Amino acid sequence: MRDQAVGLRKLVNKGQKSNSRVIVVASGKGGVGKTNIAVNLALALRQLDNCVALIDVDLGLANVDIVLGITPPYNLGHVFRGEKTLVEIIEDGPLGIKLLAGGSGMSELANLTGWRLEQFVKSLDELNREFDFVVLDTGTGIGQNVLSFALATDEVLVVTTPEPTAITDAYGLIKVVFQRNPQAQIRLIVNMARNPGEAEAVAEKLNSVLREYVQREVEYIGYLLDEQQVNRAVGQQVPFLLSYPSSMASRSIKRIANILAGEVPQDAAVGIKGFFSRVYQFFQV
Ligand SMILES: Nc1ncnc2c1ncn2[C@@H]1O[C@H](COP(=O)(O)OP(=O)(O)OP(=O)(O)O)[C@@H](O)[C@H]1O
Ligand SMILES: [Mg+2]
Repeated sequence: MRDQAVGLRKLVNKGQKSNSRVIVVASGKGGVGKTNIAVNLALALRQLDNCVALIDVDLGLANVDIVLGITPPYNLGHVFRGEKTLVEIIEDGPLGIKLLAGGSGMSELANLTGWRLEQFVKSLDELNREFDFVVLDTGTGIGQNVLSFALATDEVLVVTTPEPTAITDAYGLIKVVFQRNPQAQIRLIVNMARNPGEAEAVAEKLNSVLREYVQREVEYIGYLLDEQQVNRAVGQQVPFLLSYPSSMASRSIKRIANILAGEVPQDAAVGIKGFFSRVYQFFQV
């Protein structure tokens, strides 16, 4: 714990940084590969020398634990109840990424008031200075919670597979996000494709429907093929980027991380504080 606090202070003293880029990984349909993509993307961004935090905000099953084999003992619920500070619940992940579990505690954010809320906001400021990227792995569907997280940032990464129901559900999610947050920059990853052409066709199909009915488009930033090594990595609880660095999945995720890191962040990235303040508002109603 002390090491983490020292590390945080050192980083904070490094100087003023712009807001962290908060990237929410979401999907319409479940089981399309969000968690694998979130975890490996966080690692790939770290390999590009960014400071990265990975937050598992799934209110149901603990996803990131499954892929990484790390079970953080505390989650944001402990912070919201005043039992732990934010810095105390941060766990070290591979390559120096930081892990934060939302767990069922996420919904308790709404109960935060007074000095406890002030404390929390203060610690978010510190995190905001420390991290270049915050990657959030969400649960499934356009249930209120997932939608709240997707609407709480301006950078949403939607994952779909070529399966028709997954595409339809992705469309549903994208449409709602664009309608409720016209500023949103939505990027698309097609996972478990049989070949690059199939992935591209999925992106084109989705965009043609979006152009017609929503007058918007998503930015297609890459695909991952259906690959045995991804499954094997999950079985071993070691992210594929680390266990199979030369797999096609690893090469794809590195390409995607390069694109993301290379894109000039929006002038006013919402930052960690902006993200939580929007979530807070959504949970109030
Ligand atoms: N590119 C891929 N090739 C082969 N299998 C994959 C690929 N991506 C994901 N999988 C498999 O699909 C399953 C679901 O992946 P993952 O847990 O990442 O999905 P998810 O969207 O997070 O699911 P949930 O909605 O339940 O949170 C895992 O068993 C994983 O091994
Ligand atoms: Mg998941």
